[in-house]
Amino acid sequence: ERSYIFAETPVCPLSPSPINTLSSLPSSPLLSSSSSSSSMAFSSFTAFLLLLSTVSVAFLLLIRRTRYRRMGLPPGSLGFPLIGETLQLIGAYKTENPEPFIDERVARYGSVFMTHVFGEPTIFSADPETNRYVLQNEGKLFECSYPASICNLLGKHSLLLMKGSLHKRMHSLTMSFANSSIIKDHLMLDIDRLVRFNLDSWSSRVLLMEEAKKITFELTVKQLMSFDPGEWSESLRKEYLLVIEGFFSLPLPLLSTTYRKAIKARRKVAEALTVVVMKRREEEEEGAEKKKDMLAALLAADEGFSDEEIVDFLVALLVAGYETTSTIMTLAVKFLTETPLALAQLKEEHEKIRAMKSDSESLEWSDYKSMPFTQCVVNETMRVANIIGGVFRRAMTDVEIKGYKIPKGWKVFSSFRAVHLDPNHFKDARTFNPWRWQSNSVTTSPSNVFTPFGGGPRLCPGYELARVALSVFLHRLVTGFTWVPAEQDKLVFFPTTRTQKRYPIFVKRRDGGLSST
Ligand code: HEM
Repeated sequence: ERSYIFAETPVCPLSPSPINTLSSLPSSPLLSSSSSSSSMAFSSFTAFLLLLSTVSVAFLLLIRRTRYRRMGLPPGSLGFPLIGETLQLIGAYKTENPEPFIDERVARYGSVFMTHVFGEPTIFSADPETNRYVLQNEGKLFECSYPASICNLLGKHSLLLMKGSLHKRMHSLTMSFANSSIIKDHLMLDIDRLVRFNLDSWSSRVLLMEEAKKITFELTVKQLMSFDPGEWSESLRKEYLLVIEGFFSLPLPLLSTTYRKAIKARRKVAEALTVVVMKRREEEEEGAEKKKDMLAALLAADEGFSDEEIVDFLVALLVAGYETTSTIMTLAVKFLTETPLALAQLKEEHEKIRAMKSDSESLEWSDYKSMPFTQCVVNETMRVANIIGGVFRRAMTDVEIKGYKIPKGWKVFSSFRAVHLDPNHFKDARTFNPWRWQSNSVTTSPSNVFTPFGGGPRLCPGYELARVALSVFLHRLVTGFTWVPAEQDKLVFFPTTRTQKRYPIFVKRRDGGLSST
């Protein structure tokens, strides 16, 4: 039997493997016998260990599942120990069609289920009522929760991390700087001017996502500190881009160069902004005319904020509006390019507005208010793109939802994406169809099911600003240019929703000829 084992072992004649060497030796029966039996004993022991660990893991999982069921938790699977279902989630979101991850679990467990992602057990909600309950009870039953790596980049006084009455006060201060009357009276002109300024510099091939980012950054800097685009804002933007990359990197300073660079860039951004804050304080003390921007409002606030608090606050606003608004601009153009009928109708709407004005005349608030189809396009882009796919919260106490218990300290993920793409709430939910917003019958309760800007006390304070910026951008784009995609580009959803190649397009000015810088 022994010799049979050796004789039949497949051996590559070119590789002097130990087996090959051993089998070619004049065999001592004693040697062969002891080596063979010890190797068999080793294999049996390994197999036994494997079996034992598999049984133990299965047993532990069973105990865990029974315990969780007794606790009244929603059904679901916590996946593998430690990593849970994180790899399945990331795997799905790196493809063009991440929906099966949610669809399969909703079909198996219902719209509120338990999973384990990013190192923690998490209650996942694909249910609009649960989402609303979670968002509305911010600060009472749930609170927002970010990993420490993100908090370091945001700064400890960031609005995104503030809690309680200070959060309430600062949230409404931010709202007061991005609401409709401020946009109407001040920002509308700036938005139109900055969009035109950027589009005027377009050459024949542009990376749309990069252009949209430039516009968004310049717009935010203007809104916050009244600075026009120039060298200062461009060098700030370069540092700032490194900070943004840090949000999506491995948050370990020793291992990740990107994260280390982000922390360094965050310091530089803070230093540059601190200089601005100090100068403005000096100017105000010297009696200079007060500017009508966010910085002026922060300096005048009753709380008497320190420079550090103001800088963290400004960084939060730069972060919150940047990726989001620029991505939505890019995706609106992508979806319209892929839906020619919608693009034609949009063009018609904007040409009518332009026909009433001279070429150099700016867009006004009343023009924005006469773009009904554009608003359908904006809504539909938000619904399909899901730039913010949902929000994480942490239960501050044991909470009962829909007959299930969420234990204190557990994470909840309220998925907007799952609701926006659910055929029970939107007919043909996975098709880009701006016309659905022309009739109210498409959704049962829009305020509940359509939440691209979140809700409750943390409702996005920039929601109107983002809508206006996108509408103005579309106006200038469709009236000034025609375009075709320069390359095939596809959507991915991890770590953020974006197109893989930053959406390269060939543009042509509508007044003839290729656009030139
Ligand atoms: C398409 C563009 C945008 C989308 C989809 C978006 C979405 C959101 C969402 C879903 C939240 C809620 C986060 C949560 O509940 O934890 C949020 C919060 C926030 N957004 Fe936006 N946003 C956009 C543009 C902007 C802009 C232009 C600004 C600039 C003023 C802005 C500033 C903020 C701030 C400061 C918060 C934090 C509010 C708080 O925690 O109290 N956003 N945004």
